[in-house]
Amino acid sequence: MATTPGRSAVTPYGILFNAVFKGMDPERAHHLAFGVIRALPALGGLVRRFCAPHPSLSVNALGLEFPSPFGLAAGFDKNAAGIPGLGELGFGHVEVGTVTMHAQDGNPKPRMFRLVPDRGLINRMGFNNEGSAAAVPRIERARMRRNRPIIGANIGKSRVTEVEDAVADYVWSAQRLAPISDYLAVNVSSPNTPGLRGLQELEMLEPLLAAVKDAAGETPLLVKIAPDMEDEQIDGIVSLAVRLGLDGIIATNTTISRAGLETPSADVEDMGAGGLSGAPLAERALAVLRRIRATAPAEFCVISVGGVTTAADVLERLAAGATLVQGFTAFIYEGPLWARAINRGLRKAGWRQAA
Ligand code: FNR
Repeated sequence: MATTPGRSAVTPYGILFNAVFKGMDPERAHHLAFGVIRALPALGGLVRRFCAPHPSLSVNALGLEFPSPFGLAAGFDKNAAGIPGLGELGFGHVEVGTVTMHAQDGNPKPRMFRLVPDRGLINRMGFNNEGSAAAVPRIERARMRRNRPIIGANIGKSRVTEVEDAVADYVWSAQRLAPISDYLAVNVSSPNTPGLRGLQELEMLEPLLAAVKDAAGETPLLVKIAPDMEDEQIDGIVSLAVRLGLDGIIATNTTISRAGLETPSADVEDMGAGGLSGAPLAERALAVLRRIRATAPAEFCVISVGGVTTAADVLERLAAGATLVQGFTAFIYEGPLWARAINRGLRKAGWRQAA
């Protein structure tokens, strides 16, 4: 892994992070930063011109043209409120959500914690979102802009919906979001909604994916999985997804493991339950990618996510067979020019999608 904990301290953003954000509640810091990102398009394309990926980085996948193989993972823009600004920062795609059929507040705060020595985060947000219907007009508006990123919509189960009734909940969201999204992702892997990850069991997953596939129509459909599964279970999900005609898989979501952390274990225990993301997840996310690629057909889209920080990390995932790569946690530590730095690193390395 090419990550260097503490590296950001000497960059302008590192100084800002240490002076302002580090002492602030992470969720408040997120809202503050997101407010700025949402305002970027008002600068008349200035940021876009500075951050736009070089045309040589474009990727054909899912029948779409992505401006870069690197995109923003779900959970950052839960309500599809900042797509244009995020695109201007250089993300080739933005996966909005997770959204659910019913608007919901999520878990009580605090529910997001930084593990600074590990360049990690623990979160138990619990799908706080304004509901799938609220995302629709925002995605529609973002789609109408020129130079927009590819827009994925990530859907999950509402907390009030029993696991036995999950299919109808997902289908409701899929029906609304598929017609206006570039791709749809079925999230069955968040650790923060009781029972959700049980939907990864094949006998639950098959009827769910079949019904959502039906609702998605022609819109590319992917399933997002957890890293905390035996390899055989991963093989089973890949083979099911291929059999049902899904277009790809997103691997991985956050982990419930707390192994190998530098943050003192008493601090980690105080943070409590939730999913761990960032650098500590990188090794497992890469292993899951390799496992999927070993059995999935070449045309099957694999989006690798979990712990990438540098262009070298992204190149490693692409070399291991990822079609696209996403990130989230390192955005917090690396700052607003993160996607630009990755795109520039890919360009410098001469990376191009294989013909
Ligand atoms: C997430 N992630 C996430 N994933 C998802 O499918 N739906 C969601 O709503 C969220 N929400 C969310 C909130 C927060 C605060 C974090 C840190 C993460 C998981 C995310 O998309 C990604 O899969 C993991 O974070 C691993 O990637 P990184 O963060 O290590 O690059």
